[in-house]
Amino acid sequence: MATRENNHHHSKKTTPSFSSSRLFISLICLVSLLLVISLFKTSPRETPTQPEQNIQTAPLQTGGDTPSLTLSSDCDYSEGQWIYNPTAEKSFRYDQTCKEIFKGWNCIGSNKFNGIDLVKWLWKPSQCELPQFDPLLFLKRFRNTNIGFVGDSLNRNMFVSLFCTLKRVSNDVKKWRPAGADRGFTFLSYNLTISYHRTNLLARYGRWVASTNGGPLESLGYKEGYRVDVDIPDGTWEKAPSFHDILIFNTGHWWWAPSKFDPLKSPMLFFEKGNPVIPLVPPDVGLDMVLKHMIPYVEKTIRPGTTIFFRTQSPRHFEGGDWDQGGSCQRSQPLSSEEVEEFFSVGRNGTNVETRLVNEHLYKALKGSSFHILEITRLSEYRADAHPSTAGGKKHDDCMHWCLPGITDTWNDVFVAHLNRIYSSN
Ligand SMILES: *[C@@H]1O[C@H](CO)[C@@H](O)[C@H](O)[C@H]1NC(C)=O
Ligand SMILES: *[C@@H]1O[C@H](CO)[C@@H](O)[C@H](O)[C@H]1NC(C)=O
Repeated sequence: MATRENNHHHSKKTTPSFSSSRLFISLICLVSLLLVISLFKTSPRETPTQPEQNIQTAPLQTGGDTPSLTLSSDCDYSEGQWIYNPTAEKSFRYDQTCKEIFKGWNCIGSNKFNGIDLVKWLWKPSQCELPQFDPLLFLKRFRNTNIGFVGDSLNRNMFVSLFCTLKRVSNDVKKWRPAGADRGFTFLSYNLTISYHRTNLLARYGRWVASTNGGPLESLGYKEGYRVDVDIPDGTWEKAPSFHDILIFNTGHWWWAPSKFDPLKSPMLFFEKGNPVIPLVPPDVGLDMVLKHMIPYVEKTIRPGTTIFFRTQSPRHFEGGDWDQGGSCQRSQPLSSEEVEEFFSVGRNGTNVETRLVNEHLYKALKGSSFHILEITRLSEYRADAHPSTAGGKKHDDCMHWCLPGITDTWNDVFVAHLNRIYSSN
């Protein structure tokens, strides 16, 4: 317990700005020391011993610190553009035969008109390159590592992409359910485990029905709804933080899903310390409460050296109405920048406005925490063409999940780029 609290304390101290300024100072020291050395080398009478010693101590002092958000994001992967490369198909990571692909997401398998085309669009960040990560190198580098995805079906979509990419280069896989996971696999040759912990709200929730004995909610006239305990993690992932070495969290879609959490017929009823929160608060305030409790819960229960990410919101692309109002997404190309603003600007309050609203809540709650932010919203906002649409096999268009192979492959490239930076700086 003591070491855990220590670790928590330690992470808190390493706020991004603090750590990045230290890094910056260290870099300046290093550069000036190198300059000094090169000057000394021209003068044979001076011994270089002193500066060299300094070189070894100065930069190493940052070793052991939790890598910070800014450290791992010298390149802003979120600004850039999608470029069509007709020959990119040849370097595909996996195909429609990967068994883990949920049927509704298998756009090549279900002959979606642009299913194959999707892998020919490559994300080019403005300031740098985003290489397709090398699965074999990844397996070798993260040998003996547990990686957990915790969140809703969009995190499962990302998990499946990672699984299929790795499976293609390493076939010896054990399927199991570690630490309460919905699904999980160990790549036996490398002892690398990846798993998906299903949770919609992060917090535990379940049906609530008015008691005949009465109570605070009953006396306000509530008959039924969903009880959401803002301070209790869902059982599907409560053990995940102490099991995994790397975790990727998300939540978002369910907070703006009135079809399940109908404000009148089945509202979200928030509970804190076992008591109903009165007066009742709307879902977006409930989201803030949940994040306020779950972020420190994760920080306190992880083992020292664990790396934690929070993934930003995955955009939906319903046009002409929401999913239950006949909305669809039948585009064959990414949106232009202007169209992206029409879809997502908060001021316009369109069908898919929750994308950026969720992010506002996340950024506010994560500020000062030891989470790395995995920003995938911006690059995904362009991709109205990359959802299963009618190929999803549902009565309505699926403009929320992503075809596989597809966009979440790029999310994993961003994820691995962050990991490579974090682990090479240790
Ligand atoms: C496999 O990896 C896990 C997680 O790091 C570790 O606890 C375990 O000891 C490893 N097993 C072997 C055989 O190395
Ligand atoms: C946004 O639009 C919805 C209906 O589509 C409406 O209920 C809500 O009040 C609007 N919000 C704002 C801030 O205008």
